[in-house]
Amino acid sequence: MNHWRQKIHLEPRCGWMNDPNGLCFDGSRYHIFFQYDPGSPSGTGAKCWGHFVSSDEAESWDYTGVAIRPDIPEDINGAFSGSAIVVNGVMHIFYTGNVEHEGDYDYVTEGREANQIHVTTTDGISISSKKVILRSSDYPSCCSCHVRDPKVWMEDGKWKMVLGARTLEDKGCVLYYEADDPDNWHYVNTFSYENFGYMWECPDLYNIDGNLYLGICPQGLTHGEYHNQNIYSSGYFKVKDGKLDGFEEYDHGFVFYAPQTFINEYGERILIGWMGIGDIPYSNPTTEYGWQHCLTIPRKLSAAEDGSIRQWPVINRNLCGKIIEVPEGDQYEGGLPADIIAVIQDADYRIDIGDVSVRAHDGELILDLSNGTSGYGRTVRKAKIGKLTDLRIIADRSSIEIFANGGRTVMSTRFYPDAQNIKIRSTGGGFLIRSIETMEVRGFE
Ligand code: FRU
Repeated sequence: MNHWRQKIHLEPRCGWMNDPNGLCFDGSRYHIFFQYDPGSPSGTGAKCWGHFVSSDEAESWDYTGVAIRPDIPEDINGAFSGSAIVVNGVMHIFYTGNVEHEGDYDYVTEGREANQIHVTTTDGISISSKKVILRSSDYPSCCSCHVRDPKVWMEDGKWKMVLGARTLEDKGCVLYYEADDPDNWHYVNTFSYENFGYMWECPDLYNIDGNLYLGICPQGLTHGEYHNQNIYSSGYFKVKDGKLDGFEEYDHGFVFYAPQTFINEYGERILIGWMGIGDIPYSNPTTEYGWQHCLTIPRKLSAAEDGSIRQWPVINRNLCGKIIEVPEGDQYEGGLPADIIAVIQDADYRIDIGDVSVRAHDGELILDLSNGTSGYGRTVRKAKIGKLTDLRIIADRSSIEIFANGGRTVMSTRFYPDAQNIKIRSTGGGFLIRSIETMEVRGFE
């Protein structure tokens, strides 16, 4: 179904995509690697790293092929997630080599290896030979076999790395390492939090305006009406004096996981997530047609006065069309993608995009896909927001990303409308709608 092909979100032409990996700006180009199984839209094969590169600030991209394949004994069952940093024009990539031994194992306490591997490249196409920098025997003795997703950065001339892990007592945690050179790491300490899931994936330790944050994807949290509604969560703690404080979810919608941040050419911290989650109970009908999942729109992060993070979508200006004003009571009908800004006149604002409704009511923001056919098992997600002050929605052919109250609350979903043209109408105020041009992606056969 070609009308579900995304126009301003990166997705594979065929096969399965999951986590964004190795996000970086190399001085002239942006690189986005991703977890990829080109052979199966259900992601059943060993994961490799696909690679997109842009030299025009994400106005267009080139897909350059598979950059890292699982082809050594230390990564033979998957080149799992990781990160990249650019030092003197060279991209240093760190990822997890997943190894699953054949046998009768639980693959948690035995039967699995997690090797952290270092490679270098200048173009994301030709990659150096692989160097194993940490093996299962190197981690603290409290760790299970699940240790992965190295996020590496440099600070004060030192190499620094966080790894997500699961302990033998089924507690999620993050291991923190340092190094003087990229191949010799030593363990420094562990971040953990009482009663906070059995595994933490995809950690990211970063600074915004002097505030330190630890991003994690915890698995095994208790689900609530307003929090941690999905099978796995994704969010951040504030880090104060080495202690974790107050977990906040990045996104309250149906599909957001495994985000990674990096610094763009303007010194801004940008976050990109996977618009998908593993083991979800709802489906993506594109699977039938050979592909599944996409990445989110890049989101610029900033810190509010109370230290909470704000997220704001970034779209290349050259792709942005003209703005049309649609007053309350009128209906817009047309194709997506579009950038929609609510003109709020009433605290009970509601906007319907096809059969998906987004409404603010009684201090809640509600994303509702339960009244139509486009949700494929997605129903309702809610967040407490207080008064709705502003609302911006980026809608692509099969995704909706909602940014409320200056990006304090974000909700993302996939939706699969029957037709290419969508009707949009609102109550409690009108809206402005700006069409967005297709972001060209070259390189897929
Ligand atoms: C998160 C994750 C990572 C892992 C990768 C494998 O979605 O499970 O922890 O490295 O996916 O594809």
